[in-house]
Amino acid sequence: MPFDVQKVRADFPNLRQQVHGKPLVYLDNAATTHKPQSVINAVSNFYSKYNANVHRALYQQAAEATEAYEAVRDKVAQLINAPDRRSIVFTSGTTESINLLAYAWGRHNLRPGDEILVTEMEHHSNLIPWQLAARDTGATLRYIPIRDDGTLDLENPEQYFTDKTKLVAFTHQSNVFGAINPARQIIELAHAVGAITVVDAAQSVPHMAVDVVELDCDFLAFSGHKMLGPTGVGVLYGKPELLEQMSPFFGGGEMIRTVTMEKSTWAEIPWKFEAGTPKIAQVIGLGAAINYLNQLSYKTIGQYEQELTDYTLASLKDLDGLTIHGNPQQRGPVISFNVDAVHPHDLAQFLDEEGVAIRAGHHCAQPLMQRLGVPATSRVSIYLYNTKAEIDIFIESITNTIRFMTG
Ligand SMILES: Cc1ncc(COP(=O)(O)O)c(C=O)c1O
Repeated sequence: MPFDVQKVRADFPNLRQQVHGKPLVYLDNAATTHKPQSVINAVSNFYSKYNANVHRALYQQAAEATEAYEAVRDKVAQLINAPDRRSIVFTSGTTESINLLAYAWGRHNLRPGDEILVTEMEHHSNLIPWQLAARDTGATLRYIPIRDDGTLDLENPEQYFTDKTKLVAFTHQSNVFGAINPARQIIELAHAVGAITVVDAAQSVPHMAVDVVELDCDFLAFSGHKMLGPTGVGVLYGKPELLEQMSPFFGGGEMIRTVTMEKSTWAEIPWKFEAGTPKIAQVIGLGAAINYLNQLSYKTIGQYEQELTDYTLASLKDLDGLTIHGNPQQRGPVISFNVDAVHPHDLAQFLDEEGVAIRAGHHCAQPLMQRLGVPATSRVSIYLYNTKAEIDIFIESITNTIRFMTG
């Protein structure tokens, strides 16, 4: 069935909004995506039709809520091909998933002299938790450098992957220039030196099929709100044997088996890591988002986004005085650029006047900005509901801004 973007757009109420009297052209999807009506309905139905806490009570609505919540665990497992539903821990998002690992795994397994390997293109979410873990354990943080084309420099891996490397944490897809990193290769290099692997999949799971068995990653994290789901929910995937060995992160209700005044024992995984009342409505909303993605299929989404990304790149390349950062062959629908005559913040403000929402700033990747030698970039990020007509408006708005700024 051919992809009908107008039919898709009709499912997203926020795309019908006007900004400054102009139709919204939303191109900040790497930050967060809009939600289809089915996701909004799923959240609303939970609150209006079967609102109850999960796992504890015996009455009808609590059973219904528990069933709906736990069914999404199976759905997530299926989405990333996790063989065991106990591998799926619900968190508040990628940031919490990685912090959970840095505390529950990092603080218990890292020692002085150990090395944590990250890359120069990490989002702060996959960097600060490891900086803190290094500070607290005496481990050292090392970086795989990037090349000018925005890809990782993996030419001499023995420089970085050594018998000191205990953990390798890297982004699957850059949130700054869209480069898709060779995850399988990085994981093999890590496993060859006995290190465990953490994949930050915040920017990949929304756009492409991610298979944890094929990757053989030890841990993987992503956020619901970047893949049509609600805010406040995310996933930590972990190999069951590793999750079982780990201490809890948060303590509280739900995560215990027995509690005495002296000591406590823990619930089975994954509930050991889901202390307190979980994000019930958000998890149910995430389930509806996964249904939406499945119904379109990653293949269709990927092809459409590729076409739009190529179109955007070609249009941007036609503009004088505009530099695109990175030129990775394997890329997702994220493009960062700078315009000679206009600061990224000014450009974002001018575009906002036209109803065009793009991001300007360091994109929570300040070390990468240092590497690129710029304080900030402009970033356009595309999702399945964007159109060529929107890209044309975006390009025309940049052209008008450059013309205005250069007289
Ligand atoms: C690559 C990457 N990792 C992690 C995050 C953090 O995600 P969240 O804020 O949903 O926890 C983001 C968000 O932009 C991201 O792009």
